[in-house]
Amino acid sequence: MQDKTIEIRTIRALETYVVRHPVLRPGRPLETCAMGGDDRHDTIHLGAFDVVNNQLIGVATLLVENSPYFLGLKGAQLRGMAVLPSHHRKGIGAELVRALEEIARQRHDQILWMNARVSAQLFYTTLGYKEIGPVFEIDSIGPHYVMYRSL
Ligand SMILES: CC(C)(COP(=O)(O)OP(=O)(O)OC[C@H]1O[C@@H](n2cnc3c(N)ncnc32)[C@H](O)[C@@H]1OP(=O)(O)O)[C@@H](O)C(=O)NCCC(=O)NCCS
Repeated sequence: MQDKTIEIRTIRALETYVVRHPVLRPGRPLETCAMGGDDRHDTIHLGAFDVVNNQLIGVATLLVENSPYFLGLKGAQLRGMAVLPSHHRKGIGAELVRALEEIARQRHDQILWMNARVSAQLFYTTLGYKEIGPVFEIDSIGPHYVMYRSL
């Protein structure tokens, strides 16, 4: 994406809630936006801003975290991937994932993986991610796949 009206910047965990809440936890208490590992020193939160009005419109988080599927490899987990519906299909989600992949590569992570909502599976497939293992349910959220790609 070469859209100069969008800027990707590092943000703090609490700032992600502006997007996490309406997109990932609609109608639920704000505290449900907290995700395990949000405040670790090596966790990175990125925000996509509309530079015209400095509005945060997309967020994604990178954790140092392995998965039982990838034992022995240096793993990173993508969490809290969300873009405001008014800004879907403009390449913002893809831009956030690519930016986190670059950060993960620079710190020599070998695998990037996520618990992907089945509803977001095509988004991740488009970006080169593959499913591993069966569909599983996350309480109050729905069915997911583990998806991954080598870095
Ligand atoms: C999934 C999500 C982050 C994608 O963000 P986005 O900014 O709209 O995605 P992009 O515009 O970067 O999409 C890149 C490509 O992924 C694919 N894609 C994205 N959303 C898709 C959808 N709903 N259905 C099918 N393909 C999709 C398309 O190929 C798209 O390219 P194109 O628009 O040129 O065809 C966004 O839809 C979202 O916030 N969804 C709700 C929350 C969610 O499910 N988060 C993931 C939790 S695991």
